[in-house]
Amino acid sequence: MREIKCAVFDLDGTLTQSEEGIFKCTQYALQEMHLPPLDEATLRKFIGPPLGWSFKEYCGMSEEEAEEALRLYRVRYNDVGLFENCVYPGVRRLLRTLKRQGWYVAMATGKPEIPAKRIMKYFRLDKYFDRMVGTGEHMGADKEQLIRTALPEKWDTAWMIGDRKFDVEGGRAVGIHTLGVGYGYGTEAELKGAGCEAYAETVQDVIDTLCPGVPAPEGYFVSMEGLDGSGKTTQIDLLTEGLTRFGFEVQHSREPGGCPVAEEIRKVILDRNNKDMEAVAEAYLYAASRAQHVRQVIRPALSAGKLLLCDRFVDSSVAYQGGGRKLGVDQVLSINASAVDGTLPTATVYLELDHVTALMRRCKATEPDRIEMETEQFHARVEQAYHELIARDPARFVVVDAARDKEAITADVLSGVLDKLTEAEA
Ligand code: TYD
Repeated sequence: MREIKCAVFDLDGTLTQSEEGIFKCTQYALQEMHLPPLDEATLRKFIGPPLGWSFKEYCGMSEEEAEEALRLYRVRYNDVGLFENCVYPGVRRLLRTLKRQGWYVAMATGKPEIPAKRIMKYFRLDKYFDRMVGTGEHMGADKEQLIRTALPEKWDTAWMIGDRKFDVEGGRAVGIHTLGVGYGYGTEAELKGAGCEAYAETVQDVIDTLCPGVPAPEGYFVSMEGLDGSGKTTQIDLLTEGLTRFGFEVQHSREPGGCPVAEEIRKVILDRNNKDMEAVAEAYLYAASRAQHVRQVIRPALSAGKLLLCDRFVDSSVAYQGGGRKLGVDQVLSINASAVDGTLPTATVYLELDHVTALMRRCKATEPDRIEMETEQFHARVEQAYHELIARDPARFVVVDAARDKEAITADVLSGVLDKLTEAEA
């Protein structure tokens, strides 16, 4: 029979960096009770132990006052505080690695179970967990009991992973291995003082302790497309920010370019002096830059488990050289076949903006390059070709109306990409 390996994680300070929500909600409760705000050092101590206990311990509250503070805290927390939070970089890769290796993965948190599960669902991490246990009607905040409940009936090896002494003490009381993490809210001295068996400074150290030598699961490839002037650059930065908060390890790149050889080719392609460049030569140059980029940048990032976010990819060639330059979809795809060699994005964002509006936006911005200087009809054909591509492969595209305000676009881009990545992994 196969060995049953279990990993039980604490939540705050171990999987997610949750201080923003916790700090703001604590201050909110104090403000509503007309009490002075706390300094950051004291606020930090609120992460980990039961909140009611902290209000009594650090604010000198009575039992009734602590209850009222807790009630006020929850009013704000359940609405907004819950999501003022982010996943530690590498945690998604850690959970994916464990699941791939057949581990039983659980969570044991001193937080109420309902918001804890909402957080995991919001970050789309819930699918990696076999069990999530938090406090509730039938469960107190005793870490030992929480861990026992989180574990399956039988196991061969089990680890409790957490950032505070409560986690280590709870794990030791249950009689399982304990791993203290130093990137959260406890200190190395606190964790070692509580007797943790292993100590991890980073999420990578956790992976190396639990799964030594195991390669990272394949990462994610996402591309961003749109006409020049559709706002790609701004949205790429905002998408990077959003995906990072969700625990994806985002690496940025762009085409044409992305590595030294490809950047050299980019200069030739976009040089305004190269007026007599043949369309087919242009298509080969884009493909050549792509061949280098795929092998030197994209594939290594994916093998390291990262999310490679690329500003344009082969769809741009199909739209600009296939549509704009009238080479046709098939010829451009065949030129690119060996350059790409099967490396294709899982999700592609298309920032939808008609070519006339895009052109007007572009004119207000920087000096146009050789491609941007093309006629209006050229850009109309590019737009048309994008629409054909989307119709051919709707499952891959996240089409977002880019004529709206920045925040609305960003929200749709992020949720669309998360949906595609979640679907692809199911
Ligand atoms: P881009 O880097 O998006 O331009 P900018 O940095 O000015 O925003 O792309 C440069 C130009 O190259 C753009 O007009 C689109 C064009 N292009 C193609 O024609 N084919 C391709 O395969 C790629 C990747 C880009």
